Amino acid sequence: MRTVVTGAAGFIGSHLTDRLLAEGHHVTGFDNLSTGRLEFLAEAFRNPNFCLIEGDLLDLPTLTAAVSGADIVFHLAANADVRFGTKHPGRDLEQNTCGTWSVLEAMRATGVRRIVFASTGSVYGEPQIFPTPEDAPFPVQTSLYGASKVAAEGLISAYCEGFGMEAIIFRFVSILGERYTHGHVFDFYKQLREHPDWLRILGNGRQRKSYLYVQDCVSAILLAVEKVREKTNIFNLGTDDFCEVNQSVEWICSHLGVSPRLEYSGGERGWVGDSPFILLDCSRIRSLGWKPQLSIREGIERTVDYLRMNPWALTRE
Ligand SMILES: NC(=O)c1ccc[n+]([C@@H]2O[C@H](COP(=O)([O-])OP(=O)(O)OC[C@H]3O[C@@H](n4cnc5c(N)ncnc54)[C@H](O)[C@@H]3O)[C@@H](O)[C@H]2O)c1
Repeated sequence: MRTVVTGAAGFIGSHLTDRLLAEGHHVTGFDNLSTGRLEFLAEAFRNPNFCLIEGDLLDLPTLTAAVSGADIVFHLAANADVRFGTKHPGRDLEQNTCGTWSVLEAMRATGVRRIVFASTGSVYGEPQIFPTPEDAPFPVQTSLYGASKVAAEGLISAYCEGFGMEAIIFRFVSILGERYTHGHVFDFYKQLREHPDWLRILGNGRQRKSYLYVQDCVSAILLAVEKVREKTNIFNLGTDDFCEVNQSVEWICSHLGVSPRLEYSGGERGWVGDSPFILLDCSRIRSLGWKPQLSIREGIERTVDYLRMNPWALTRE
């Protein structure tokens, strides 16, 4: 396949790129390097089937030229951090909703019909049903990030109806693993590196969260692309398990051999839009034959090992 990966220099996008190249596909990466890193593409650059276009989703002519001739677009570029929405109220709308519209327009203009979209379990806000299935109601949004992804999902399904496109939408839980650059393991590891004797935790530590290892995430994406050809498909993507933030702290600390004093900011939520409980029903993707290889604890420990071995990944250039 001739593929385009938006967000190719990011955490998940760079792994997807490596796996697509390993399977013999051509990959055009498209990334503005706002949070992505060229280091993550070191292996890809050695492959003649890869090229990177440094560009912004909102630059429609450049994006249109990039997707022209593709069989499928994997759209992962986004503002991926849910926590700072209220500090930058326009960012999620611009990067996630308008950025997705841009991708769809570029595809429409060039006749590209298949899109895979990285959405999020945050679209469910604070759901009432656990594990939460894809058809659970989610009338109330709790974060600008989740709201921007709901809107993007809406645009995608409308383009599928209006222009005969096919979409696979994935609602991920938090993803962990090598090249991880944002999220709780990153924050905790960074803190413990600076001061191993104390750790500040957002919320009361009782939040229950589900996590998935990045290679398991990519395997699910590739499997669905191979097996599913319908107008709009939505898949939750996560493990059938969850852990408390406090449990994760315990695993990280015991892996690092530290016993810090724990300080909690308090409250059931760590930030505006933090969901106290996330557990997705992943039976739909499992019915295709996918199952995760790593447990949440193994995923967390691999992430810590990666950060320990790659301290440069803790800094932004
Ligand atoms: N990591 C997670 O836990 C998680 C969970 C749910 C959903 N997602 C979604 O998965 C996707 C990938 O997330 P990630 O964790 O790899 O994030 P990331 O920040 O590592 O990757 C995003 C990439 O997109 C690029 N980018 C951002 N805005 C752009 C723009 N306007 N134009 C071009 N490139 C742009 C960045 O430079 C970066 O390389 C995102 O859509 C995110 O919302 C991630």
